[in-house]
Amino acid sequence: MCWRGAVTHIDDDAIAALSRSYASILPGDAAILDLMSSWVSHLPNDRTFAEVVGHGMNAEELAANPRLSEWFVQDLNSDPVLPLLSAKFDAVLCCVGVQYLQQPVAVFCEARRVLRPGGLVAVSFSNRCFSTKAVAVWQALNAEGQAALVRLYLERAGFNAIDILFCAMGTMAIR
Ligand SMILES: C[S@@+](CC[C@H](N)C(=O)[O-])C[C@H]1O[C@@H](n2cnc3c(N)ncnc32)[C@H](O)[C@@H]1O
Repeated sequence: MCWRGAVTHIDDDAIAALSRSYASILPGDAAILDLMSSWVSHLPNDRTFAEVVGHGMNAEELAANPRLSEWFVQDLNSDPVLPLLSAKFDAVLCCVGVQYLQQPVAVFCEARRVLRPGGLVAVSFSNRCFSTKAVAVWQALNAEGQAALVRLYLERAGFNAIDILFCAMGTMAIR
């Protein structure tokens, strides 16, 4: 599937690596929230999931995403509170969007709230971003510093057992 306005924000190798990681960490019957999503979620093609709820800023992109069972639009910088029930999801994904969050700890506190006990959050990022939109601290850091910053966001939101699964792409955190 390729939406007519489709842009991929990471290259093919990164997408393949991310999909493989998702395949290894996501339970088969998982209910998933894809935060800061678009027309693609990078989920493994050969897997189905119980539910994939998408969130983003662009309704046209989200409507074109074939993996989403439902979706909603919300500017997390204006309102980080998710319109979702607590303990609804097994996994929250956030792919190449974390650099745009102005209230990251509040957003990841919300991610924690909507996760079931034992659920996981996976945050991935790359060395690309829109410099006019990324927060200043992000742009001041190298990849190692960005990984440390994401770790800090997650720790402040109450996550523990944070793992970096692969460094070429970014960091992923699991509790
Ligand atoms: C680089 S794109 C990544 C999209 C998708 N996750 C992917 O991997 O292709 C960043 C996404 O973050 C979302 N985004 C940017 N600023 C946002 C904000 N303030 N609140 C909510 N979402 C935002 C945009 O809708 C956009 O789809």
